[in-house]
Amino acid sequence: MNGQVGFGIIGAGMIAAHHGKSMQNLQNVHLVGFYDTNYESAKKRAEEFHCKAYRTLDEMLSDPEIQAVTIATPSGMHSQVAIPAARAGKHILCEKPLEISLEKVDQLIQECEENHVLLSPVFQIRFTKPVKLLYEAMRKGRFGRMLLASAQMRWYREPAYYTASNWRGTWKLDGGGALMNQAIHMIDLLLYINGAPEEVFSFSGTLTHSIEVEDNLCAAVKYRNGSFGTIEVSTSCAPGFPRRLEFSGSCGTVAIEEDKIMRWDFVNPVPEDEIIRKELFGQADAKGGSAPMNISHELHAFQISNLANAILYGEHLLLDGYEGRRAIELICGIYESARTGKPYIFKR
Ligand SMILES: NC(=O)c1ccc[n+]([C@@H]2O[C@H](COP(=O)([O-])OP(=O)(O)OC[C@H]3O[C@@H](n4cnc5c(N)ncnc54)[C@H](O)[C@@H]3O)[C@@H](O)[C@H]2O)c1
Repeated sequence: MNGQVGFGIIGAGMIAAHHGKSMQNLQNVHLVGFYDTNYESAKKRAEEFHCKAYRTLDEMLSDPEIQAVTIATPSGMHSQVAIPAARAGKHILCEKPLEISLEKVDQLIQECEENHVLLSPVFQIRFTKPVKLLYEAMRKGRFGRMLLASAQMRWYREPAYYTASNWRGTWKLDGGGALMNQAIHMIDLLLYINGAPEEVFSFSGTLTHSIEVEDNLCAAVKYRNGSFGTIEVSTSCAPGFPRRLEFSGSCGTVAIEEDKIMRWDFVNPVPEDEIIRKELFGQADAKGGSAPMNISHELHAFQISNLANAILYGEHLLLDGYEGRRAIELICGIYESARTGKPYIFKR
């Protein structure tokens, strides 16, 4: 492998270009080529990134130059291409969500284990500075007893965002709406910081778009650590606002909007608190609330590089399949509650 992992990208749409750009400056990664069911799309990306375009999945998976693949197909098609990749011995970086049902996620994890390949779900927001600081504060017990952990996403997606796509806004291929597609990053962060959920009750509706899935949803969650929280998500709130996460314990509260810290208050302050406030307080950029591709390359690059180092040198994989599974479990529980009109209790 000569200190570099050869990557193939499966699915050559919007996020695939982002992966290509993220790989460009990495020393430990070499982008070998693209495969897409639409060969013209693969060819276009291959020309853009000066690499190969494959006509079939088999052709890509039998290329000895490729040791790992990025899965960038529509969400409900992830395991359909990831399972053959695992069986061909390729390590996998899979875009969020890993899959759209727990059954499919479990099958994918099992296939990767049986074939001794690594599986890493993309949750790039975990590697932003505010989230790292928040996680550290939680780990050190600075919040005291956790009381509230909430997420608010009042975003806007134009009707064309859904109508221009044959998969977005569908149960079969998107697996849900504002919650499964957009807010999944926030769900991952709630679980990462505050731990597993115990029970949830939710309402959902399709209020402004002509789609099958929800564009608005509200849930109340009880966590295993005894704390509570709300999850409000929307893709109907024009012009779109920064997403907000807020955690309160008996001894501290932190609120984050996008990559800015809005509140960082602890009963027992430490000198670094002032530095954090100086550096990261500010007005959050609202662009993410309305522009689907307002995503930084560095965060994806960081995750790609971690997987490459895990393959090359056995570096600790920061996110594995089980980490990716947690968000799907909470999301599916929230959908089940909205569907039945009853609380959903999570299995231990
Ligand atoms: N991490 C993030 O913040 C982020 C942001 C955007 C999208 N995503 C995820 O990335 C995935 C792709 O999203 P997108 O916006 O790029 O979609 P897209 O529609 O732009 O691209 C999907 C591509 O996959 C191709 N495709 C479909 N079925 C295929 C198959 N079986 N084999 C190979 N190619 C196939 C399509 O032809 C299309 O070119 C989704 O799961 C989405 O949730 C993640």
